[in-house]
Amino acid sequence: MKLDNDLIIKALLREPVTRTPIWIMRQAGRYLPEYLRTRAEAGSFMHLCRTPELACEVTLQPLRRFDLDAAIVFSDILTIPDAMGLGLRFSEGEGPQFERPLRNEADVRGLPNLDVDESLDYVMAAVKRVRLELAGRVPLIGFSGSPWTLATYMVEGGPSKNFSRIKTLIYDQPALAHLLLEKLALAVTDYLNAQIRSGAQIVQIFDTWGGILSPDAFREFSLRYLRQIVSGVLREHEGRRVPVIVFCKGCNTHLEAQADSGCDALGLDWTISMEEARRRVGDRVALQGNLDPAVLLSNPDVIGAEALRVLSSFGQGDGHVFNLGHGITPDVDPDHLQALISAVRQLSPQFH
Ligand code: CP3
Repeated sequence: MKLDNDLIIKALLREPVTRTPIWIMRQAGRYLPEYLRTRAEAGSFMHLCRTPELACEVTLQPLRRFDLDAAIVFSDILTIPDAMGLGLRFSEGEGPQFERPLRNEADVRGLPNLDVDESLDYVMAAVKRVRLELAGRVPLIGFSGSPWTLATYMVEGGPSKNFSRIKTLIYDQPALAHLLLEKLALAVTDYLNAQIRSGAQIVQIFDTWGGILSPDAFREFSLRYLRQIVSGVLREHEGRRVPVIVFCKGCNTHLEAQADSGCDALGLDWTISMEEARRRVGDRVALQGNLDPAVLLSNPDVIGAEALRVLSSFGQGDGHVFNLGHGITPDVDPDHLQALISAVRQLSPQFH
């Protein structure tokens, strides 16, 4: 299958490129008026996710406006716990909530082994549809949450301030925590492989809550399962290498260990300089990031200057994919994202 623009795949594999490719975490979302319109028509966020035509439509919306170098399939990391029977709801202003969070040992033991092609068929249908519609314009990214981050939501029941329930679980009942994480690691591996077989050409694993753990706990309860997943993911499909990106937010102390997980690239949040990250791990993996998302709230001049700061910090050479250090927020003016993309297009060739 032909691919007109494979810059991101090349950059993730640290192969030479003529400019720094860019995509944006949460590039389809509430900062786009057309997304808000489609979501209103759909009635709810989950209906949007579960209807492949609508999921495909919102996946493509940012690509109609902007010269992005990849699409990311529209879905959510919490589809796996939902498919396991926890009952996901998104209530306005409160974030995700599970109707049946994990409250005891029986709940964990009772979790089903997922057949992802069956229970998450709507995600695979969306992936296939987006691939057809993209017709090789740019690669399609598939994704999943990490076992640790999924477990956090499943045990807390929703967003949490101090994560007391999940932390009590790992300290009081570590064997039960491992049972849960093991089940999730198997499901995540199957889920990513099903997305790859359906047409995802790159996959990213989001460990949004890795940063709440102590260094030892991070290795034991998060990194171990990331490593297991990376080693189980299909790395070759349609005659092409499928790069794996690991994004752990707030985990910069463990950068070297993350780079040893077997992934092709690390996503970085904005609390570390590209220069330091590259010095510590740059010859092992590509780096993705890492503009502070709040820069997009300022103005085009500042956005251009801060983009140049990130590009210069990475410096000369290949192996950089430009992105934000976390998802774009709903209060961003789409014209400001345009300013960022133009700046990266214009400024990055000098570094290659
Ligand atoms: O990047 C993309 O454009 C693809 C779509 C995508 C969504 N969620 C859509 C979404 C991706 C990759 C995610 C990942 C995700 N979901 C993560 C990991 C990344 C991160 O941000 O750390 C997490 C932790 C979630 C769980 C989740 N989903 C939360 C906490 C929320 C509500 C909080 C918020 O931002 O409002 C969601 C809802 C969600 N997922 C929205 C979108 C566009 C907003 C829902 C809406 O339209 O109201």
